[in-house]
Amino acid sequence: MLLRTVRSDARHPGWCGTGCRYLLARIFGTIDGMTSSSALPHSVPVDGVSGTAPSLDASHPLMDGRTADSPLIQAYRGGKPSRRPVWFMRQAGRSLPEYLKVREGVAMLDSCLRPELASEITLQPVRRHGVDAAIFFSDIVIPLKLAGVGVDIVPGVGPVLDKPVRTAADVAALPQLTWDALEPIREAVRLTVAELGTTPLIGFAGAPFTLAAYMVEGKPSRDHLGPRTMMHADPETWTALANWAADASGMFLRAQLEAGASAGQLFDSWAGSLGLADYAKCVAPASTRALDHVRHLGAPLVHFGTGTSELLVAMRDVGVDVVGVDYRLPLDEANRRLGGTVPLQGNIDPALLSAPWEVLEAHVREVIAAGSEAPGHVLNLGHGVPPETDPAVLTRVVELIHSIPAG
Ligand code: CP3
Repeated sequence: MLLRTVRSDARHPGWCGTGCRYLLARIFGTIDGMTSSSALPHSVPVDGVSGTAPSLDASHPLMDGRTADSPLIQAYRGGKPSRRPVWFMRQAGRSLPEYLKVREGVAMLDSCLRPELASEITLQPVRRHGVDAAIFFSDIVIPLKLAGVGVDIVPGVGPVLDKPVRTAADVAALPQLTWDALEPIREAVRLTVAELGTTPLIGFAGAPFTLAAYMVEGKPSRDHLGPRTMMHADPETWTALANWAADASGMFLRAQLEAGASAGQLFDSWAGSLGLADYAKCVAPASTRALDHVRHLGAPLVHFGTGTSELLVAMRDVGVDVVGVDYRLPLDEANRRLGGTVPLQGNIDPALLSAPWEVLEAHVREVIAAGSEAPGHVLNLGHGVPPETDPAVLTRVVELIHSIPAG
């Protein structure tokens, strides 16, 4: 694995990002005082077929010269590209009229599993807004669905499971996701990168806590009491569930990266409901495990959650190259907390997308100024695009960001 990593890094001379430093620390000992989780009682399936750990293909966009020098990938690797990169979480779907048109009569999860449709929806915001990255159109619960867990996305509600997962027997009965079941995902990614040219595709997955929170509650919840009770009341069952979710999410992300995505983002949207002690002990090891499925590929990895101002250092320490910051914490303060060690992504307040343009423009300029000290900065929102957003405002924000000379 070490040899493979060194080989893949050699394709990016001079670069050894956090992921690479992290990997070496995993091999030789500890990082930032954290015990290496290589002692975790698990074996990561490095290849669903043969048990080897191939690197990205030579024809992959990150390897064949298409995306390695793009503004997004440069900034993710701590460089200062000639233009400031910007993309928006939840840019695909939501309010775009062209999205609503192609989704007519198709259920959400079905649309994710039709490769041509998923690819078309992924491309729509790139065409419309001129953003610097596509985010793959899918959902964090797709790995559950592909494993055979009964789950649906109920309009206006969110993910709902046929049967919540609450006991050791429930966890033991979970079906395993197979590599073959992920073929519609790989096909959608292949179709997408064939159209994207030099614009990178970002793959994503839900972090084990956020995924497990839906599994335990069986539906969206505000305080995530179920999973937070389970991690203390029945830690063994919690660990087994978090590890199941880690492997499902890790395989989902790996399928996207191997098929052509140039970066990966782990969404721990609900991690902000946890205190630091619970996060570090009960959640971070599983997030590390999810990313263990993909770090050998050498693509930049981003970690994002909301309400996570107190968790930023621990979230970096699961071994990522970039930390996504929500709208609550100014980027200069996030950079201070992280000791200037990692590029940042964020954090335009989604609420201001509906404010008068002058107010929004001043805010975007503030975000750019606050991010200027970080080793790299990718503009994004501090959470997803609100469904009621006027798409023209997003296009104007992209134009504004691209019009400001990179410092
Ligand atoms: O970012 C993108 O544009 C790519 C597509 C994407 C979707 N979901 C499509 C989607 C991504 C990256 C996600 C991730 C996701 N899904 C997260 C993490 C990001 C976040 O928002 O915190 C979470 C928590 C989910 C679970 C989920 N899926 C919820 C809570 C909901 C319902 C609320 C909502 O956003 O509408 C969904 C449904 C969903 N996922 C929709 C889309 C486009 C709406 C479905 C519809 O319009 O019918």
